[in-house]
Amino acid sequence: MEKLVIRGGKRLEGTIPVSGAKNAALPLMCAPLLTEEPVTLENLPRLADINTLADLLNHMGVAITIAAGQGGRIRGRSLTFSAAEINDTVAPYDFVRKMRASIIVLGPLVARAGEAIVSLPGGCAIGNRPIDLHLKALAALGAEIDLEEGYVRASAPRGLTGGLIRFPFASVGATENALMAATLAKGTTTIENAAREPEIVDLAKCLNAMGAKITGAGHETITIEGVDRLHGCTHTVMPDRIEAGSYAVAALMTGGDVFLEGAVAHDMGAILDKLREAGAIVEEKADGVRVKAGAGGIKGFNIVTQPFPGFPTDMQAQFMALATVADGASIITEAIFENRFMHVPELCRLGADITVTGASATVRGVQKLKSAPVMATDLRASMGLALAGLVASGETTVNRLYHLDRGYERLEEKLRGVGADVDRVPG
Ligand code: EPZ
Repeated sequence: MEKLVIRGGKRLEGTIPVSGAKNAALPLMCAPLLTEEPVTLENLPRLADINTLADLLNHMGVAITIAAGQGGRIRGRSLTFSAAEINDTVAPYDFVRKMRASIIVLGPLVARAGEAIVSLPGGCAIGNRPIDLHLKALAALGAEIDLEEGYVRASAPRGLTGGLIRFPFASVGATENALMAATLAKGTTTIENAAREPEIVDLAKCLNAMGAKITGAGHETITIEGVDRLHGCTHTVMPDRIEAGSYAVAALMTGGDVFLEGAVAHDMGAILDKLREAGAIVEEKADGVRVKAGAGGIKGFNIVTQPFPGFPTDMQAQFMALATVADGASIITEAIFENRFMHVPELCRLGADITVTGASATVRGVQKLKSAPVMATDLRASMGLALAGLVASGETTVNRLYHLDRGYERLEEKLRGVGADVDRVPG
């Protein structure tokens, strides 16, 4: 298995182009299931998870082609999805086990085809991650839900009917499934306590470009007027705020100065605020965000992860790496997932001083981290380890690079482009 070798101590300086957002691209790739007309998505990141979902859609009958005329002008990849025929409404275990976000085909499939049979995702490294809210939302739109042999069957042979969906807490995936299903439901749907992440706003933008009638995306209450059919469109995937945030932390940790080309400051609010608190100088520009280490070094900070606009759980591990070399102590509380501290023992292998009590970790900054071989456990944890490797003395090896490839496009190339000494090596 490939691994990442990082020789630490280099100050990062220069420009990093931000890729399209994985967590926007995945639900957006499911939207074409709602129409028989072609949908073109531009600025898709080249990531393992994107390929896995493309294989699943292909398996269902979605024709996926490289979009015409994408030479040079558009960053990322442009693909055209055509779901003229859906000849299989089953999402098999072999696809879903590789990437649990495949569950997002459920809503669009039952809305368009009247039936969806999707493997239950099963457990995940960072938590149980049940899908009860997804199922409750579809049931609220009149779908019949059955669970059998590890699969969920949602059926609505006469179509879905608009209704009230009130979530007990904000779920990104359940909001995305409900939003897509409601676009073709008869009548009006109201989603209360909806997730407000920018990726949901991007999805609603694309669906409205397909002829949907959605208002309120990005707010707690979303209203959807169902329509009889949707049409094709071309949509550009938003930039990845988590990828941008990860490189912003790298700039501060290495005492550097990095311009995150294409990053949107508004989507990164809580991340940039916390970076400023930790000592960074942040400039928000029309075409990106510049992050520069301040003269005062890195200061300790406290974090509690929350749904947007709160501090994102997908940045928790990266900020924990930052806290390991801060001046003073930081307290980091993970309030979204019950098992998202897998990076702690690995950071301690690099000489970090961290104690975990329940859902909180107390990180006491140390002068210097020291290199060691470490093990990636999940996507964001592995980015936290790579960031720590950038400042550790000596050569750090991050094993199981495939975790990083799920969510970071051309990682070593982008890091090398701003002066890091990093290589991908065969296992
Ligand atoms: C999305 O996952 C992201 N994934 C995650 O990013 C991210 O961590 C998460 O939102 C929170 O921001 C994608 O967009 C593909 P949730 P999702 O439903 O939709 C509980 C990354 O690193 N819950 O908002 O699965 C759940 O267990 C990934 O890129 C239920 O209890 O997250 C969790 O504790 C990791 N029942 C909380 O809600 C449900 O039916 C939030 O989960 C659904 C969720």
